[in-house]
Amino acid sequence: MTDRYPPINPKCPHFLHGGDYNPDQWPSEVWQEDMRLMTLAHCNAMSVGIFSWARLEPSEGQYDFEWLDRVMDLLAENEAYAILATPSGAKPAWMAEKYPEVLRVRPDRTRNLWGGRHNHCPTSPVYREKVHEINLRLAERYKEHPALLIWHISNEFGGDCHCDLCRDAFRYWLKARYDNDLDRLNEKWWCAFWSHLYSDWSQIIPPSPLGDERVHGLNLNWKRFVTDQMADFYRHEIRPLREITPGVPVTTNLMGTYPGLNYWKFAPDMDVISWDSYPSWHREAVGIEDRQMAVNVSFTHDLNRSLKRGQPFMLMESTPSMTNWQAVAKLKRPGMHQLASLQAVAHGSDTIQYFQWRKSRGSSEKFHGAVVDHVGHENTRVFRDVARIGETLEKMDCVIGAKTLAPVALLYDWENRWAIEDAKGPRVEKKDYQTTCERHYAPFWERGIAVDVLDMDEDFAGYRVLVAPMLYMVRPGVAERIEEFVKNGGVFVATYWSGIVDEDDSCFLNGFPGPLRGVLGIWSEEIDALYDGEENGIAMEKGNDLGLKGPYSAQILCDLIHAETAEVLATYQDDFYAGRPALTAHSAGKGKAYYVAFRSEDAFLDDFYGRIADDLALPRALDIDLPEGVTVQARTDGESRYVFLLNFSAKEQTVDLGKIEAHDMESGKNASGKIRLEKNGSRILKVNE
Ligand code: GLA
Ligand code: ZN
Repeated sequence: MTDRYPPINPKCPHFLHGGDYNPDQWPSEVWQEDMRLMTLAHCNAMSVGIFSWARLEPSEGQYDFEWLDRVMDLLAENEAYAILATPSGAKPAWMAEKYPEVLRVRPDRTRNLWGGRHNHCPTSPVYREKVHEINLRLAERYKEHPALLIWHISNEFGGDCHCDLCRDAFRYWLKARYDNDLDRLNEKWWCAFWSHLYSDWSQIIPPSPLGDERVHGLNLNWKRFVTDQMADFYRHEIRPLREITPGVPVTTNLMGTYPGLNYWKFAPDMDVISWDSYPSWHREAVGIEDRQMAVNVSFTHDLNRSLKRGQPFMLMESTPSMTNWQAVAKLKRPGMHQLASLQAVAHGSDTIQYFQWRKSRGSSEKFHGAVVDHVGHENTRVFRDVARIGETLEKMDCVIGAKTLAPVALLYDWENRWAIEDAKGPRVEKKDYQTTCERHYAPFWERGIAVDVLDMDEDFAGYRVLVAPMLYMVRPGVAERIEEFVKNGGVFVATYWSGIVDEDDSCFLNGFPGPLRGVLGIWSEEIDALYDGEENGIAMEKGNDLGLKGPYSAQILCDLIHAETAEVLATYQDDFYAGRPALTAHSAGKGKAYYVAFRSEDAFLDDFYGRIADDLALPRALDIDLPEGVTVQARTDGESRYVFLLNFSAKEQTVDLGKIEAHDMESGKNASGKIRLEKNGSRILKVNE
């Protein structure tokens, strides 16, 4: 019996391959040619209408759907599908002219002019009404259309609006959050600081460079509100679609680890997660290896898969070649398109899509990579790369819905990130929450051990290992769940700068790491900041449990801790805190909780997690030795395991399958023994479970 998720829309049990398609920017004579090229490129799904409002409603209340009818029909005639967008990402000029309230207001309280995109107020009743009207019409018109496959809501929600409507909505939101108790808010936000005590809700002003940016409780809750308001706008958008087309899944394209919105609040109302991935490959010339970039992208794919707790996601946008906004618009080197696309699939994507299908002729995206270049035909390197992955995907129907089984969970939490970034001290720069999370993730990636990336409020009970780098904020209930996790046999890893603030960004009293003090068995008395390049030595205790030898070194941040009930595994070597604990382990119940008190170099993390992985015999995608920069990731349906060998090492590599007998899904041949992976090379192997 196989065990898998259903296809995103059972109407199409294949990988979706295609991209943002803007026929409305082109004369209709080009459309027929688009269809010919689409078939040649092995594409089957196009995102249409993303920024088409001015074409769909050229003047208020006057609609023109005929062009879109034709596009939808063409797609259906060519056995392709539409990922149909709602157009709210950009609005027609007439709307802003007649109803200026739909335009966004900046933090300095100036109202934007019409233009650009993502330039709307999420609160404006007029904008909401206009969006509702157009969405309703789209749903009514295309509800029976054979091409309609998925709804693409707006485009890359982001930013915030500081208009009076949003300000009032924020006050209302705060009243609900603090049970109408202003004194409680004053206390939770520590408002006696700099005379910030409010005596009326009307005095609360969203953060602004003209006013307050130093009240952390205000900043944090504003960010929470911005997420809630945008998610509310999203829910408003999907209401008519859900009603009229209940069988059509809805999604909105997320932006990875975009700082402005907590995507966990969107996930429950998305039928499938989708995201836009634009890594900057090929930066060796400026000292950034592809391996490092690959870790960042894998981490983000895992986050997107985790947003719906393992359900496959969509790679909604990627570039077939270069972008137009990265500092240097590097072309994708041979192999990289295939490799990066398969990386997404390896981590749980059931689609490969692009921005953009046909390179636009004018305006700012005319030099952004596209499947079809200005030359207009299929005889290009990029087109061939796209067709190649298209052909590969056609052989992979059996991978659709296959699962990722992760023994490790890593906590990466938006609110925690906001609070860390807002903190003044102990270092202004290089607090690096995200990079730290990725560095703790990398040792698992190197070993082919799958990781889920979770918000701290998510259930992590079933994992073997729980890694929580810099868990600065600890929301209510989290420490208790961690205690339970360890008691039941889990291994928990925490680091310096954890358990510092509560859910309103006020410090815990009675000793850091606050509510984690019990489970970790330590007290952190102070934290030292080091200059760039400054180091403190780390010596492992002889005969330590982990069998680590060291020596290692500490950089940037060193916690000065007391081992209360924990055992000391390593100590600092230098400065006035030489001899003090730097790494501890605390056994509680059947499990263990480690505290890494210092920021370390990668070698330490690799040794440390390597030992934990070995001791627990954590399952790997494939039990083989991997050269550095080569990762292996797997998805399974319970009967077959689909294994992706991905070479990000910037040179040719060989991996030895040993006794493993596999089937190469691209060539259709058997694979065993030594496998050569060219530079940027990849292989998809099917093995029996
Ligand atoms: C974003 C947008 C697209 C396009 C691309 C360019 O992801 O959603 O419309 O502008 O960037 O990289
Ligand atoms: Zn507003």
